[in-house]
Parts: sequence; C-alpha cells; structure tokens
Amino acid sequence: MIGVADIREIVPEMRRFERIGAHTHIRGLGLDEKLKAVNIKDGMVGQTEAREAAGLVVQMIKEGKLSGKTIILAGPPGTGKTAIAVAISKELGKNVPFIQMSGSEIYSTERKKTEILMEAIRKCIGVEIHEMRKVYEGEIKSINIQTKPHPYNPYQRVPDRVRITLKTTEEEKTIEAGSSIAQQIIQGGITEGDVIQIDAETGRVSHLGISLESQKSKDLDIDTSAKVPRPSGKILKDKEFVYTMTLNDLDNMTAKQRSGGFFSLLFGGEETKEIDPEIRTAVDEQVKKWVDEGKAKIFPGVLFIDDSHLLDLEAFSFISRAMEGELVPIIILATNRGVTTIRGTNVKSLLGFPLDLIDRSVIIGTREYSAEEIREILKIRAKEEKITLEEEALDELTRIGEETSLRFTVQLLSLSAQNAKVSDKEKVTKDDVLRVNKLFMDIKEAAEYLKKYEEKLMVH
Ligand SMILES: Nc1ncnc2c1ncn2[C@@H]1O[C@H](COP(=O)(O)OP(=O)(O)O)[C@@H](O)[C@H]1O
Ligand SMILES: [Mg+2]
Repeated sequence: MIGVADIREIVPEMRRFERIGAHTHIRGLGLDEKLKAVNIKDGMVGQTEAREAAGLVVQMIKEGKLSGKTIILAGPPGTGKTAIAVAISKELGKNVPFIQMSGSEIYSTERKKTEILMEAIRKCIGVEIHEMRKVYEGEIKSINIQTKPHPYNPYQRVPDRVRITLKTTEEEKTIEAGSSIAQQIIQGGITEGDVIQIDAETGRVSHLGISLESQKSKDLDIDTSAKVPRPSGKILKDKEFVYTMTLNDLDNMTAKQRSGGFFSLLFGGEETKEIDPEIRTAVDEQVKKWVDEGKAKIFPGVLFIDDSHLLDLEAFSFISRAMEGELVPIIILATNRGVTTIRGTNVKSLLGFPLDLIDRSVIIGTREYSAEEIREILKIRAKEEKITLEEEALDELTRIGEETSLRFTVQLLSLSAQNAKVSDKEKVTKDDVLRVNKLFMDIKEAAEYLKKYEEKLMVH
C-alpha cells in the first residue's frame, strides 16, 4: 500500500561491511530478560561470562552510561571476539551501523592515520533524515510530449514541454511541465498506466510501478515492474521521505558540492582523498540542527577494530580524544595479545594498549571452547550455510577444532561442503573433511612450514 508515511526511500543504501560473512548466524547475544546467557540462543553458544558482560554493556550504552568509554575484547584467536562485537551491534538495533577494520589498516602511504580513523568513526554514525516534501502523485491517464528543434542541430527534435493527466482514486488533474521532466519521462520509458511521483520543488520524477487498475497492467502479464494500487487521496500532497545515511556520506556529499562541478569536470570527478575539517564541522552543525528540529535521528553504531595491538600511540591518543566528542560511535577494540610493547614506543603494556586507555575501558575476556561447544557452533554454521553433514564428518570437524582453532574448523566446514559439491554429493562426509584438512593449513602448520623453507623462500 502506498500511504502518506510508508513510502520509504533509502538513498544511498547504508554501506554495510562485507567482512561479516562468517558471522551471519549471530542474531544477538542470546540473553534472557535477566540478562543471563541462554546456552544456545540467537546463534550464540557458550562463552557465558563474555556474553553476559556484553549484555550489561549494551544496557549501559542504551542508558547513556558508557559514554567516553571504550570496550576491549581480549582473548585467544577464534574465541568469538568478532562474533560478540557483531552481537552487540545487533542488540543495539536494526539501523545501527557496524564497521570492522584491522589495526593495520591505519598505515597507508596516501592518507594520514588519523584521517583513516576519523573516516571510520564517521561511517559508524547513522543519520536517519526525515523530510516532508510536496509531490504530485498519481496514475498517468494521458501524456502528451511536445518537442522543439534542438538548439544546435535544428534537424533533431528534443522534448520541450509535457502535459500529464494524473488520477488518484479521488481526483484527476492535468499538469504541465518543462523539458527536464519531459526528458525524465522519456528516459524512464514512462507511459500511460504507470504510477509516478514528481517532486514539486526539484522536479525529480520517480516511477513507482504499474497501476494495478490500468489497462497496461492487464496487457502485460510478464513484466519486471512492480504493480502498485492506484494512489488514493489528493494528487498534490505532502509526503514523508526517510533517508538513511552516515556522517561520512554527508561529508562526501558536502565536499563534492563545495568543490563544485568545476573540479569534477577537470579531474574526472575523482573522490577527494581527505575531507577538510571545516566540512565535518559544518556537517555536524547541520545534523545537530536537524535533530533539534525533529528532522533527523542519530544512530551511533559500532566501530570494531580487530588486532588493536597494531595501533600506535598516535592512534590511541586520537581515539581517546575522539571519545570525548558528541557524535561518537561505540568503539570496540579486540586483541589477542597479553603483554606487548605499544607500537611506536619501547613501553611494554597490558594488551599493548596505553594505560590511560585501559583505565577508561571495560574489558571483556573470551575463553577457548570445549569440544561440545565447538560441535554446537559447527552445527549452527552448517545450518546457516545450508550444509548437510554426516555425523562422522561433524565428529572430525570437532576434533580438528579442538586441536587447531574454532575459526579454522569453521572455514574447513565451508571447504568440505565445496569438496562434496564438486563430487556431486548431497552430504558432507568424513572423507571430504579429511581431504580438505590435508589440502589446507592452519596458522600453526603454515608457520612451521614456512620456517622449514625459510632459507629457500627468503632468497630475495
Ligand atoms: N560463542 C559463539 N557462538 C556461536 N558462534 C561463535 C561463537 N564464537 C565464535 N563463533 C563463530 O566462530 C568463528 C570464529 O570466531 P571469531 O568471532 O572470528 O573469533 P575471534 O574474533 O576471537 O578470532 C566465527 O564464525 C564466529 O562467528
Ligand atoms: Mg576476529
């Protein structure tokens, strides 16, 4: 149904991060009303204390009691640090952005470390903008396009004006518009029977679909266009539009506007590498104004920095400073180091983090899984990836998981399924698992292998 409030345009689509493929089974923290972990729930298995701690953290975030603090996830590889970060963002709500990066990504030859971090932070702040706009909306009853000679080529004709009769269930109206709207109509292949919407101010034409009541809809039974009911109400009406963007999207849009078409003409519209701090300030002011006027809502998301011990002192102090700002996401730092030197210094420190940052953090530890837990997680992943496993294959994968890591065996599961598929088998057998386990190395094996061949490999 097309009503006044339920037209929703999402422009541009919020860029969700792609690297979360291995965590699609995580739907939340899997807690009960008292924030106690249910052994298997929301795709989560075991890791009880970490999940309950994360539950309290989510509660505090929602009550605004965690501001200025970061969350640290500390634990061995493959113990669910990323999984818990994903779960925290799921618990925070549907519109909440989740951005994942590695500590190593801040080192680039082209951009400053702080710029990379700033951009990541701004990608994590979702802004839902509500806007009331006047639109003409209706089913096209008739359409008449007038053309005129092309100004530079009089033998060619170009659209000049268009006269459109629109109808709703309530009224019928004829409007006349200029060449820009005429052109959009021709380009969009819009004809009688289509339901369109024209922004009264900008003249942007949107094709909403084919009217169910029209002759066109009856003539075309195979058509890719959506069929929609004939709009109700007045033809000229106020409609609410909702755009979901991030502060980073707004920064880029503003930067482009400011540099004007001129730059883009000369340099092929290349994306600006760095955003002027002035632009960010202007965007923040604008967004705050929209919020005050009830036109926008802010959704602070989660910035997850994996391998955070790879950040250096400059990055840590930047993060500490950023946490004091108003528009900040939840920052989750993950590490699998115990005591190590802080990058860029000779100072040894817990987790490789500066003390003042640790002081302002809540630390959640993750521990290794039991065979039973590994088995349950494999079962959930198999279901998620639509893989059927023979019992023996699951036994073998569990055994490998205990010996190596959960992450490795989760990967082997997908590879085994691929192997079974290649041999046209419906079910993954123990043989598939044994084969791929022989073909691929886990980290420990790879390290030993490389050590053995070190001399030969490092000849250059
Ligand atoms: N408690 C858990 N319940 C369900 N799945 C889990 C759990 N812990 C980890 N996983 C899954 O196991 C795999 C490895 O975990 P991951 O979160 O990548 O570990 P880490 O980030 O600590 O290296 C991922 O696919 C993850 O989603
Ligand atoms: Mg991880």
